[in-house]
Amino acid sequence: MNVAHSEFLVSNTKVENCPKSSLPEYAFIGRSNVGKSSLINMLCNRKKLAKTSSRPGKTKLINHFLINKEWHLVDLPGYGYARASKTQKKTFQKFIIDYLNKRKELVFAFLLIDIRHKPQPIDLDFLCWLGKHYIPFSIVFTKADKINEKEIEKKVLDYLKVLEQDWEILPQYFVTSSEKKLGKDTLLNYIQQINKGIKKF
Ligand code: GTP
Ligand code: MG
Repeated sequence: MNVAHSEFLVSNTKVENCPKSSLPEYAFIGRSNVGKSSLINMLCNRKKLAKTSSRPGKTKLINHFLINKEWHLVDLPGYGYARASKTQKKTFQKFIIDYLNKRKELVFAFLLIDIRHKPQPIDLDFLCWLGKHYIPFSIVFTKADKINEKEIEKKVLDYLKVLEQDWEILPQYFVTSSEKKLGKDTLLNYIQQINKGIKKF
């Protein structure tokens, strides 16, 4: 799939105010600064569709984008931003969780992980939370341009080994770099396959 049309629709903090349409929706979640907004821009061939920043905590709202007039892509605030105040953290967490729990149109979540880092409890817990709440998800390793091929392979294997402790069936994963446009077609084709499956019913 190629993204020929992408447009920003709305930002908000309440799931009740999300677009009232039944288009299938894909959310990008993960720690602050992991590269969610950059990945969205890469997928859409745009530089500034989603706002990015080298400072963590840039995305603060639930942002809806309409893609090819057929599906929604959602950019969420990151979790685990160390410098956010306790109240801020709680508010963010509440509306992310609320969104994931209540948004009927959500068909799939992509959980982003910085490929350079060791598995972090906050991400592993979040994966378990998604599993417990029956939200289908895949892992998207980001920033693969920062390490070499051999290291990529090792980091992925190390991560899967840790996941094996909690998961009988390992989730699907993708290796990406927004900088090098790596993983773009694979991810978009994956979304297209899910969309096709939905249309059949
Ligand atoms: P929050 O909105 O704060 O939660 O962050 P985010 O997850 O949306 O991250 P964002 O896309 O804003 O990127 C954070 C920083 O990482 C920016 O400085 C990006 O340029 C950089 N970055 C994102 N993706 C990549 C990548 O694939 N490679 C490299 N080298 N840098 C990247
Ligand atoms: Mg962001």
